Amino acid sequence: MTTYPQALRNAKIVGVTAEMRVVAVTPEYAADLVTWHYPAPYDCYDVSDVDPEFFLDPRNGFFALVSGSDELIGFRSFGADGRVPGGDYDDSALDTGGGLRPSLTGQGLGRQAIATGLDFGRRRFAPRAFRVTVASFNSRALRVVTSLGFRPVSSFAATTDGRRFEILVRPEVAPGACSIAVRAGADAGRDVPALRLFRGQAHGQRRRAGGLVRGVRATIPVAARLAAA
Ligand SMILES: CC(C)(COP(=O)(O)OP(=O)(O)OC[C@H]1O[C@@H](n2cnc3c(N)ncnc32)[C@H](O)[C@@H]1OP(=O)(O)O)[C@@H](O)C(=O)NCCC(=O)NCCS
Repeated sequence: MTTYPQALRNAKIVGVTAEMRVVAVTPEYAADLVTWHYPAPYDCYDVSDVDPEFFLDPRNGFFALVSGSDELIGFRSFGADGRVPGGDYDDSALDTGGGLRPSLTGQGLGRQAIATGLDFGRRRFAPRAFRVTVASFNSRALRVVTSLGFRPVSSFAATTDGRRFEILVRPEVAPGACSIAVRAGADAGRDVPALRLFRGQAHGQRRRAGGLVRGVRATIPVAARLAAA
């Protein structure tokens, strides 16, 4: 049986799947969110000055990221909130942003948290591409989004405070295109970087013939970690 610390080490190596899903923001989740404080230099991501009602308004595109037992792990946003004043944006991509609960950062959970949000966003909004805007100093976040297939397209200074930001984009592939690519790999009888077969897009995960994602899947008890935090 995999012990908890072992599962955490595996998470760093093979992207272990924790229990995470995206749900609507409730008044309780919104009230919790505005109490979160990130340690410097990440305190610029605090949302403590935001009216909780903002997170509840569907027009603002906020969703809660929760554990299997409905505990709030983080939040995801889709739409204008992910943009930073001064950036060059158009409608060719859907902006997405968010954050993990401060006590859960730095433990290798971010990749799955963002991937879970992207999966939800893909099914809900079917965008041609996702776009993220990340502070240039935030190497931790940049590592995570790059590992998920986002690629830099521009860099700018925010008109608000001059802080530098990077804009990264990840094109999405139509579901039909993905299955064709996987089948092409099956025909060739070998592993293929499935999505790379289509328009040169690579999302970082290799698929096996038959569509099985490579790597180990296990469950991290996020609820247990929340309890320990
Ligand atoms: C951004 C966020 C999703 C990252 O998730 P995380 O679980 O905390 O990140 P991880 O612990 O997996 O670290 C990611 C990588 O950055 C590396 N890293 C951590 N701190 C680092 C630092 N100061 N400098 C460079 N690399 C760093 C880790 O070693 C890891 O590398 P690996 O991919 O080779 O294993 C999460 O920290 C978060 O939500 N923070 C909220 C504030 C924020 O930064 N928001 C930006 C949203 S885009």
